[in-house]
Amino acid sequence: MPKRHLITCALPYANGPIHIGHIAGCFLPSDIHYRYLKMKGHDVLFVCGTDEHGVPITLKAKKEKKIPQQVVDENHSLISKSLDQFGIHFNQFSRTTNQLHHQTAQDFFSTLHKNKVFEEITSKQFYDEEAQQFLADRYIVGTCSNCSYEDAYGDQCEQCGRTSNPSELINPRSALTGNAPVLKETTNWYLPLDSIQDEFLNNWVNNQKNHWKSNVYGQCMSWLKDGLKPRAMTRDLDWGVRVPIQNADNKVMYVWFDAPIGYITATKEATGDQWTTWWKDADTEITHFLGKDNIVFHTIIFPAMLHAHGGFNLPTNVPANEFLNLEGNKISTSRNHAIWLHEYLEEFPGKTDELRYVINSILPETKDADFTWKDYQAKVNNELVAILGNFVNRVIVLTHKYFNGVVPEGSIDKLPDFSAKISDSLNRFNQRQGLEAYMEIARYGNKYLQDTAPWKLIKDDANQQKVADCILTCLHIVNDIGLYGQIFLPNTSHKIQKILNLKSYEDKITAGHIIEESELLFEKIEDEEIDQQIEKLTPKTPIETSVHQNNTQPIKPMIQYDDFVKLDIRVATIIAAEKVKKADRLLHITLDVGTETKEVVSGIAEYFAPEDIIGKQVTYLANLAPRKLKGIESNGMILMAEEEGGSLRFVSPDEQTKPGSVIS
Ligand code: MF3
Ligand code: ZN
Repeated sequence: MPKRHLITCALPYANGPIHIGHIAGCFLPSDIHYRYLKMKGHDVLFVCGTDEHGVPITLKAKKEKKIPQQVVDENHSLISKSLDQFGIHFNQFSRTTNQLHHQTAQDFFSTLHKNKVFEEITSKQFYDEEAQQFLADRYIVGTCSNCSYEDAYGDQCEQCGRTSNPSELINPRSALTGNAPVLKETTNWYLPLDSIQDEFLNNWVNNQKNHWKSNVYGQCMSWLKDGLKPRAMTRDLDWGVRVPIQNADNKVMYVWFDAPIGYITATKEATGDQWTTWWKDADTEITHFLGKDNIVFHTIIFPAMLHAHGGFNLPTNVPANEFLNLEGNKISTSRNHAIWLHEYLEEFPGKTDELRYVINSILPETKDADFTWKDYQAKVNNELVAILGNFVNRVIVLTHKYFNGVVPEGSIDKLPDFSAKISDSLNRFNQRQGLEAYMEIARYGNKYLQDTAPWKLIKDDANQQKVADCILTCLHIVNDIGLYGQIFLPNTSHKIQKILNLKSYEDKITAGHIIEESELLFEKIEDEEIDQQIEKLTPKTPIETSVHQNNTQPIKPMIQYDDFVKLDIRVATIIAAEKVKKADRLLHITLDVGTETKEVVSGIAEYFAPEDIIGKQVTYLANLAPRKLKGIESNGMILMAEEEGGSLRFVSPDEQTKPGSVIS
């Protein structure tokens, strides 16, 4: 076992707060691993920070009419505060806009430049003439050449995960103006991944086959099989780290060049001159935690950079996770289909371990996983409350009842080796299994207590020592739950330590030691709390999604007449309307569509009272595939006009029109 471990957690973009997807992808796994190695007595450094450059941030700033610095300042504090409250405490939570980071990234770039690593290539790049700007990365959107998703970014497709060059997009358009871009010549500095692949990557990646997770190794190999191409490490933008060489005046570094160097910056901030021990000493292991869309950057591009630079250790492992979905759908920040950490902390105060537990139990370690509120409720109630909390509580109550809270003399019955199973799982980054092994302790405890039944033994004077042995054994099991809880349930571990009246878990429970009164570890989650959360996520109805574009939004990409005629739009009359139960936004509307009536669920309850809209004529999309909202099947959708600011209007014919009349 090496002496030192550097653990990194992917730097979240400072363009918004973090949600459960981030937690499942890297925050929780890295924190579990950190806690585990610390507990084993290793020397560990745990670093992260916010990724504050890149186009998503400038786009966000533009949208909110702020400067980028303001956006990243706000999000950095929001993110670091919520992580801290959640119990994730990095040795350093840095920022890529820090002066030291710019300097570190520039030194790195300069070294590569001096080593003649970069290829200087002049080529035609997309340019928005109206915005007078080159359209790097997410400034350009278009149809993915791999999966045909229409809103793929220039650098990455969010649908299929394909990372690509903007030139591979079909029908490219500017994210700034919606205009079709023109091509304009510019010079950029490229990392020759093709030659680095031959000279180094093929071999290096091959050697990781047996200890990297198969999802990581597999993705990495598929990149290598396709053959890497040179990739530009500079951009014609003004938000980012300036490129520190001549003839690069208006250029900054590619965000994926500077961001991973953020790990180095954070190490420098945490340890000063000692930073090289963490990056250059042979007995330090580096482990990068991240989500699957970051794999290529940590297994190919950053290692290629480190290799080309020379003198740095390469990562020992990159245990990336797949994605977490929410209630069966992809998490989407733009549709607000997400559980935001800061909101959870506010709405479920003190319940950090509950969220940790549930996410830990479904970590997308080998394939995508799904978080549902019902599952959250079931796991908290049936596992944390009913198994773990219940066991600890019974033991403490019985200790007070039979021994006035004083640990009795006795001998401990033989217990299984809980720690071996936990370690074995965590060493293999199998953290779901690690949690199961942890819960085995409480399950075992419950069974042991039930089988030994001290409440029966106590009735017979001859069995008093057996009662003492049983309680002593149970207290040791509680102690183990607290001890290993430091890895999985830190808050609970802390509470148990208080109940057991231990200064630290190094102290052992011995006869004569006085324990405290029991304290509630977990409380039941009620249906109402869960229903409220589910309601918050109610997918926006077709109506809301159809009108969310307001006049500051660019026009959508061109379609053909054939596309248009697929839509069957008609006049309809509202003949009944009522509120949908437990859904503030929804109205259940019955439409007369001429030949028959149709039931539609519309997200307009905040704007219209049911009684006010009866008799209204509306525009109705008749051939939209039906979908269920709150258990009601919605057939087609009512089209609405939305003014900037969000107010909604029906689109009605200017004279009474026969329902069912076709609009074309
Ligand atoms: N900001 C990136 C994301 O959220 C991750 C950056 S990881 C680092 O996908 F290596 F660049 F730091
Ligand atoms: Zn795609």
